Order: sequence, then structure tokens, then C-alpha cells
Amino acid sequence: MKLSRFLYHQTNHGKNDVRRILAAGRVCVDGKVERDSQRDIGDFTQVTLDDLVLRNTSAVYLMLNKPAGYLSATVDNEHPTVMELIDVPETLHIAGRLDRASTGLLILTNDGKWSRRLTEPKEGFPKVYELTTAEPISTETAMRFQQGIYFAYEDLTTQPAELQILSAQCAQITIYEGRYHQIKRMFHAVGNRITSLHRLSMGAIQLDESLTPGQYRDLTQQEIDSVAH
Ligand code: URA
Repeated sequence: MKLSRFLYHQTNHGKNDVRRILAAGRVCVDGKVERDSQRDIGDFTQVTLDDLVLRNTSAVYLMLNKPAGYLSATVDNEHPTVMELIDVPETLHIAGRLDRASTGLLILTNDGKWSRRLTEPKEGFPKVYELTTAEPISTETAMRFQQGIYFAYEDLTTQPAELQILSAQCAQITIYEGRYHQIKRMFHAVGNRITSLHRLSMGAIQLDESLTPGQYRDLTQQEIDSVAH
């Protein structure tokens, strides 16, 4: 949003007043006087008018080692949610949900643009999971996943996914999108069933092995920047 529009919406001043206030050098953006009405104001840009802080929201990016049994949701009447594990959850949302039984890397943030980039299928960030299955995994499964699995409900074929079989009923899978229950449904399509699913990474962000289930930490600047273009 342009600075003039932002000021018009955030204060009681009319458009002419806003122009005068800007010309008088009464507005600071990120700590510096700003007179340009066309300056872009993002969600995390700090803006003050005289001594009044109009916006001062900092971006938050967390990684949680999600324990089993917690819902990837903000509120639920029946089950505990991951938000109950976070100290200041109010403004955060989840960047790429995990099912209640799934464990591992869960990212929470208040930066909508950033989380959309990380999760949108067209961006193609790899998501790596370790999994176990009810039945032995056939070598044909890897081929089927490479070709893509047709999901009738959405009328789409999943993008090629890489399956690395680690033992009879254990594998690592890399997918490049995040459809609803995607991995469960892919295994269901080949007559198998997931018994555990643990997310190891999203893009370049890897689950920090020092985090025990339920613990979380801030992302590093390098991890945050790995999602930017
Ligand atoms: N795919 C699933 O089926 N479940 C998850 O939790 C994540 C990906």
C-alpha cells in the first residue's frame, strides 16, 4: 500500500492534510523522515506520525517440532492444537499443515507473503518426509509416484514425487506441492497405508534435531531468506 493511502486509512486526516503532513516531514518510515507519498508500506514497515506509532509489527518465523496428537489449527473443541505449544500464537498462522498424527517440521509465521511462497505448488519447494507403512513398499510404488497419482476429487495428477525405499516398510519421500492428505492418499492409491509420517524439511529449512517434540525456535535469517526470491 502507498504511504499516502496508509496515512489516510490510519488517521483521521483527509487527503489534503495527508499531503501537508508529508511535506512538513512529520512522517517517519523505518526511522527516517519520508516525504514520498508513493513509498510502498509493507506489513512489517514501521510508520510513525510525530510521536504516534501507526504501525510497528515485526515479522515472526518459528519452526516447531510437532508432536503427534496435535491439530494444525488455531482452535478446536476436541483436540489440542499446535497453538497451545506456542507462547505468543495470536497473530501466527501455519505454513503447510501436518495431519494430527504426523510429526516433525511445522513452520508458523505472521508473514502471509512468505508462507504463500513456501507452500504454493507452483513455487515447487521440496518437502521431505520419512514414513512407515502397513504393507511392504513395492519398487513399482516409486515408479507410480514418479509418474504422478490421479486425485479424482481435485481432478488433478500429483507432480512427480521421489520415493527412496529405506527398508521393507520405511521410506523417504520428496513432494513438491502440499495437497490435502497428499502422501496418505498417494499410498492409498497403490493399496498401502501410512502408519507414521514425519516431516524433515521444507525447501532449505531442515527440522532442527536439537528440538524435542513440542519445542520450537525462531528461524535463522538464512532460513528466512531461503524462501525469498
Ligand atoms: N501428507 C499427508 O498425508 N499428511 C501430512 O501430514 C502431510 C502430507
